[in-house]
Amino acid sequence: AAIEKGNYRHFMQKEIFEQPVVVAQTLRSHLRRVEQTVALPQIDFDLASINRVTIVACGTSFYAGMVAKYWFEQFARLPVDIDVASEFRYRDPVLEPGGLALFISQSGETADTLAALRHCKAAGQTIAVVVNVPTSSMAREADLLLPTHAGPEIGVASTKAFTCQLAVLAALAAHLAVKRGRLTREEEAEIVEQLVETPACLNAALAHDEEIAGMAHLIAPARDVLYLGRGPDYPLALEGALKLKEISYIHAEGYASGEMKHGPIALIDEAVPVIVLAPSGPLFEKTVSNMQEVRARGGKVVLISDAEGIAEAGEGCLATIEMPKVHPLIAPLVYAVPVQLLAYHVAVAKGTDVDQPRNLAKSVTVE
Ligand code: G6P
Repeated sequence: AAIEKGNYRHFMQKEIFEQPVVVAQTLRSHLRRVEQTVALPQIDFDLASINRVTIVACGTSFYAGMVAKYWFEQFARLPVDIDVASEFRYRDPVLEPGGLALFISQSGETADTLAALRHCKAAGQTIAVVVNVPTSSMAREADLLLPTHAGPEIGVASTKAFTCQLAVLAALAAHLAVKRGRLTREEEAEIVEQLVETPACLNAALAHDEEIAGMAHLIAPARDVLYLGRGPDYPLALEGALKLKEISYIHAEGYASGEMKHGPIALIDEAVPVIVLAPSGPLFEKTVSNMQEVRARGGKVVLISDAEGIAEAGEGCLATIEMPKVHPLIAPLVYAVPVQLLAYHVAVAKGTDVDQPRNLAKSVTVE
């Protein structure tokens, strides 16, 4: 059956709003709610024996992988190497026995990622894939298939596939942590509980749609936009910048908050909006001080944080967007929503072709 837009103006908008449902769907297949355990499908080898993870992907899927690196290291204490697929093979990566190579792809057909998968397979790595198309080449060639259940994604700029990838990767991080004896039963149950809460938190984030639409005029005239984040929100800053450039054609860059002083701060003036992604928590103070450096140079800040963070640092910002207070594990899923909505509304304000941006393809099957 043809996929319809329903009451939405664009597929991208529809797909942004589908996230609570498809993330719930994806999580259902990776969690046992009653037992409060993580349960990954089709694992017939010993994940506890893995000593290293290599993550390879492109585009938005690569940023999901970057978030996963933080989680695998923090929760499972597994060393992680990550690279974009187009660079990976050519640097002759060191792939030792006992390694898990993890490929993330919406389509399961991206040429660079598929070539990297075959390279790792030939080098004796165990191959795991997080893919949205279960009949794809990557799904067929994997030892371990971890499906996302986002449903067909039509908008060229990925949205729901990304948050579903994060949902699977969070479950995988917890699973690896349990297998490696890094999480107690209680801690696992707590993580499962947080993951089960995610769809409700995504709904809370989506409730800011109109407010974010009202901010589009603040960003639409800009020539350059900076996105800052720290820790697992740093890849979100990269994803926010990618979304904006893909569909609104505004030059945008994502930076680790702490790196701003090593270069991009030179760009700051009143004409460069800076979007700061900063949930309250241990990293908040440092990010706020980076934000003050921007403000001291006349920069205009849009702060995306929770009530606590906004109460502490929201004054003097150009705008603030209040997210629910969430567990650090699910913050990247929740903070994806406002950056998607912001890019979407800015593109609509500029009148670009949101679903079919110029020069971009949904699935890139050339290297
Ligand atoms: C293209 C799409 C992006 C996507 C990337 C990777 O560039 O426009 O939205 O993130 O490919 O695609 P994949 O299917 O491998 O996730």
